[in-house]
Amino acid sequence: MNTMVVLISGRGSNLRALVEAGLPVAAVISNRADAAGLAYAAGRGIATAVVPHRDYATREEFDAALGQAIDAFRPGLVALAGFMRILTAGFVQRYHGRMLNIHPSLLPAFAGLDTHARALAAGVKLHGCSVHFVTAELDHGPIVMQAAVPVLASDDATALAARVLAQEHRIYPQAARWYLEQKLVIERGVVRVKGDPPQQSYAP
Ligand code: GRF
Repeated sequence: MNTMVVLISGRGSNLRALVEAGLPVAAVISNRADAAGLAYAAGRGIATAVVPHRDYATREEFDAALGQAIDAFRPGLVALAGFMRILTAGFVQRYHGRMLNIHPSLLPAFAGLDTHARALAAGVKLHGCSVHFVTAELDHGPIVMQAAVPVLASDDATALAARVLAQEHRIYPQAARWYLEQKLVIERGVVRVKGDPPQQSYAP
């Protein structure tokens, strides 16, 4: 099986889900030395690297250094897991068709930040998470898998985020595994999985 490199900026709970699912994580790279996920990875004997964005004058220079750090591990897949940097078009192109992201909303609704508070404010009754291929438009690439959860009258953003996060930890490993098993086919921007397993789930 091909390997993957995971990019993180913080906590790293999705990274942990990927590792615990037995996926071949060759390395974890962060733009922040204090990202908690780095310590987790090191504790599991996984290679880690830090590319501090503040060390680079421009996004282009940072992305070039990040690309070098990634390519040192020759991964088949790059997985963004709470990586909080806007990527340049050149970087996205470099990993076109082999970079996934997990986003905490049912895309295309609520791209961007503060998704749980925005879902509550909009009054939606279903919320969730999406794994998608990364394209130049933020949070808008072809969708691989989604999970939905109900929005409860008692929810605040924290409670809703926790239920969505539990689903993130289910769908990201599944989507990454499909990718590494070469089961994903993209036709006109729509992702199909060979063998047609369900690409959505609902967690009542
Ligand atoms: C997750 O909610 C993910 O969807 C978003 O950032 C958060 C990262 O959490 N992109 P973690 O670092 O994986 O715990």
